[in-house]
Amino acid sequence: MNILYDEKRKLFHLQTPNTSYILGIHGLGWLTTLYYGPKLHLKEENLLVVRDRAFSPYADLGDKTYSPDTLPLELGSVGGGDFRVPSVELTQADGSSVTEFFYKCHKIVQGKPALDGQPAVYTQSEDEAMTLIVTLEDAQAGARAELYYTVFRDFDAICRRAVFINTGKQELKLERALSCCFDLPTDQYDFVQLSGAWARERHVHRTPLRPGSQLVESVRGTSSHQQSPFIALAAKNADEKQGRVYGAALIYSGNFVAQAEVSQFSTTRVVMGINPNGFSWQLDKNASFETPEAVLVCSAQGFGGMSRCFNKLIRTRLCRGKYRDGGRPVLLNSWEGCYFNFTADTIVRIGRDAAKLGIELLVMDDGWFGKRDDDHTSLGDWTPYPKKLPRGLKGLADELNAEGIAFGLWLEPEMVSPDSDLNRAHPDWALQVPGRVGVEGRNQLVLDYTRADVRDYIVSTVNGILASANIAYVKWDMNRHLTHACSALLSAVRQGETFHRFVLGVYDVMERITSANPEVLFEGCSGGGGRFDGGILYYMPQIWCSDDSDAIERLYIQHGTSLVYPQSAISAHVSAVPNHQVQRVTPLATRGAVAFTGAFGYELNVGLLPQEKQKTVAEQVQWYKDNRDFLASADYYRLRSPFGSNASAWMFLAEDKSRALVQFVRKLNVPNEPLDRLLLDGLAPDAQYRVAESGEVWYGDALMELGLPVCLPDGDFTAQTWTLTRVDE
Ligand code: DGJ
Repeated sequence: MNILYDEKRKLFHLQTPNTSYILGIHGLGWLTTLYYGPKLHLKEENLLVVRDRAFSPYADLGDKTYSPDTLPLELGSVGGGDFRVPSVELTQADGSSVTEFFYKCHKIVQGKPALDGQPAVYTQSEDEAMTLIVTLEDAQAGARAELYYTVFRDFDAICRRAVFINTGKQELKLERALSCCFDLPTDQYDFVQLSGAWARERHVHRTPLRPGSQLVESVRGTSSHQQSPFIALAAKNADEKQGRVYGAALIYSGNFVAQAEVSQFSTTRVVMGINPNGFSWQLDKNASFETPEAVLVCSAQGFGGMSRCFNKLIRTRLCRGKYRDGGRPVLLNSWEGCYFNFTADTIVRIGRDAAKLGIELLVMDDGWFGKRDDDHTSLGDWTPYPKKLPRGLKGLADELNAEGIAFGLWLEPEMVSPDSDLNRAHPDWALQVPGRVGVEGRNQLVLDYTRADVRDYIVSTVNGILASANIAYVKWDMNRHLTHACSALLSAVRQGETFHRFVLGVYDVMERITSANPEVLFEGCSGGGGRFDGGILYYMPQIWCSDDSDAIERLYIQHGTSLVYPQSAISAHVSAVPNHQVQRVTPLATRGAVAFTGAFGYELNVGLLPQEKQKTVAEQVQWYKDNRDFLASADYYRLRSPFGSNASAWMFLAEDKSRALVQFVRKLNVPNEPLDRLLLDGLAPDAQYRVAESGEVWYGDALMELGLPVCLPDGDFTAQTWTLTRVDE
């Protein structure tokens, strides 16, 4: 790790263990992207190619080759000759939105400066990172942009963000304030995105870059089920093991855009940040605006290399708290087992049955509060429903604890039902446009988290609930997207700030509640994986990955999610068959194998299973307990993609390569099927590994080059597991 500044050449060389990011200062002070990729040695070479081009305006009258239209730029601005997608747009008092930002100064500091009230990658000691802060200025507008670049000692990642400051005498309005912008010299990449819908989140899509813009975005107020705040640009030859892949992930839970634009000269601009759609920010004199953080990873080892870098960085330097490092308790969630139809006695009975099989935590899901028998009422009235919980939360928690199982609770703190005491008392606490009727989603409204009074109320209510009983876990749900995003307390010129202020409000509430309850395990959720992003993982180390709990559907969802997020963050449960979302019947062993891939649990009434199935559950629980610390810290290798194939396979490998778990799931049975061998990855080639299931000892190279023979049980949706231990030491 290093950041070098060559004063003579006006060039910054940012270095991670295996990558270089090189910036230059050119002409009038443009900050240029000279290179991003595998690590380089530099001598005296010219890294910038410029030409005088027709229809490309030049600001430096002495040198027509320097055009904002063709320079690779680290800050794209509006109206001054850069016609590609900008990363900042600023309206000034005279109505103009033309800006031209030029280099003013820079500093290089040890460590990584923190963000104010926003989630971000952190360091545990100053020697883990170095940060370059380049200040650009538009003197006429009275505006500065500080661009932050952090490089890491242990990760091939670069964290980027921007701070925009009003240094002048006029008020400014930010219409666009993106976290990062850079230009790559070619368009020979595929655009990779994680897209889908409720119950089929984060499916992988890979398409060749084409001239013009391609983007993913959310305007739903959350990062969303539909798109994910991540894109990758992958070399045409890139696969899981090799080829260059650039990944960009935004640590943010609200409206975002991630965009690649292929220019007329086949260069590619990448920008990422808060979606300008629905965003504006009033920048008073001396005020500043801090963007969320984007994390860039460049890997020469294909998607696998990129993912392992993201996975470990997020697991160890974005997630926090007591549960960051180890395996998580095995839990049983009541939702699919009883939906709204339960009482305390039901919950205790399920808990008792679960405890007998070794399950450690019983989560009572939606329906325990107010007068909630269905989803039409009571969000916001966070007091136990006397009809269901006559002995309150404490009574229930104590009874469960007496059965030998911990107690966890579902909450949806950002919402209010129109039919609730909270809404009747504070009808102005929901986001709304005065005079407009508004719309409901799942019969509910969104609380106005831009308001400090609303946030204070929720923080004290939730902290009160958590203090009222022995609650070991919280599932924090969020079941609708934002519409009518106006706040009663913001002035007219600031209404464009509502979406981002809402997200900042969510972070404020999450920070205050999670830090006041350090012993509680928090799990994020938004109708499944509708807010699966790095922002939430800063506060909660795991997220319910999808409301689709079918093992085969989960192959796709978990495969896509693993491109960025660590297995420890992916909450995955064994549910009943026929599956409630797709009616598919899969073997219990397969459901277990797929759920072992994440933070493991059950989503069914285990006491209703036949005895032999209960025995299998007990074995699964014990297996997970024995292996969870290994699984949580292992490197993850995708061996077969479920997209476009009949199988999916993956592998957990200990960091010291001493142990591995390999799993293979076939979708449909194939009559008289061809021989298949599974090629492993990442092993020490000259080490020997014992395969527990066969007793055979193989060299690592044979496992990776010849592969394990696949021999699945007969039938659809079956799974095979191999457990490898290094034996040559
Ligand atoms: C959506 C979640 O994803 C489900 O698991 C469940 O908690 C329901 N909400 C409850 O309303």
